[in-house]
Amino acid sequence: MGRKLRLLDMLKAEKGRWVSGEALSTALCVSRTAVWKHITTLRSEGYEIEASPRRGYRLMGEPDALFPREIRAGLCTRRLGQGIVVYREVLESTNDRAKALAAEGAPEGTLVISESQTSGRGRMGRAWFSPRGEGIYLSMILRPRLSFEEIPKLNLLAAVAAADTLADVLGLEVRIKWPNDLLIGAKKVAGILTEAGMEMDAVDFAVIGLGLNVNTREFPEPLKQTATSLFLCARRKFPRVPLVRNFLERFEKGYLDFLDKGFGPVLEGWKRYGDITGQWVEVRMLDRKCRGRVLGLDADGFLLLRTPGGGTQRVLSGDVILKG
Ligand code: BTN
Repeated sequence: MGRKLRLLDMLKAEKGRWVSGEALSTALCVSRTAVWKHITTLRSEGYEIEASPRRGYRLMGEPDALFPREIRAGLCTRRLGQGIVVYREVLESTNDRAKALAAEGAPEGTLVISESQTSGRGRMGRAWFSPRGEGIYLSMILRPRLSFEEIPKLNLLAAVAAADTLADVLGLEVRIKWPNDLLIGAKKVAGILTEAGMEMDAVDFAVIGLGLNVNTREFPEPLKQTATSLFLCARRKFPRVPLVRNFLERFEKGYLDFLDKGFGPVLEGWKRYGDITGQWVEVRMLDRKCRGRVLGLDADGFLLLRTPGGGTQRVLSGDVILKG
């Protein structure tokens, strides 16, 4: 760990109490001028550090930035976020960067996190509104031994993990709109985009991208009608680092359980948040749509419909509209 971070740790350990410049310079084996330079850098990163000629320095506030070191502190995962974490102020899309890294051989557990995205992508070619510092835009690289057909299961797994995270912090009812939209009330608060890279006929990697609207105060038209954020629902700001940690821990646990015990627990999770069994729906896909009564999800996470003609239709992905 570099000196700047050791200095930060010393200030954090004192929890708002003063630490003398002399104590810092002795512990770090640097001059008082070097201490001051590190303080200036930390301030420019958003740490609120008071300075007093007689008493030294004290930490009065931390930035709501998704710095890898802040996420890692106290993160209880085996792999996710413990190795490579790419953190940027701006990226076109965290999924695109994660796919490029995965293609270059980045290991399972690698994360890509950005404070904003200029071309954040959603399903069906849609854009994902990604204003700076207001949401969570992260992508995870996985290298599961799964067939291509099984990749959508990871999508549902991520949706259940994100719903569990929101249920933990919010105390508001969260629903999953199959396959992977998270709704509060009738509006969307988060979405998941899962993409896979193939090598011959096996899955080489999967990239799972989470977009979560955390402290967004206003959405542009026409998103206003359909999107919401935790801030708009709860009328308070949420620190983002604990949300990221909670999601990573829940996702990894679900992922390891899935690899070990199969898809059953994920399906149970979906039932907690999104059961629309028995309802009439229309499912709009990129090139077609279909209607039917929902029979439930099959063992692979596909939506099963009883069509008006009495047949059964298996749907992989699409926009579900309830028809009452
Ligand atoms: C959807 O609901 O259509 C999925 C939205 C997924 C958005 C996230 S934000 C982080 C990651 N990077 C992207 O470009 N998209 C996903």
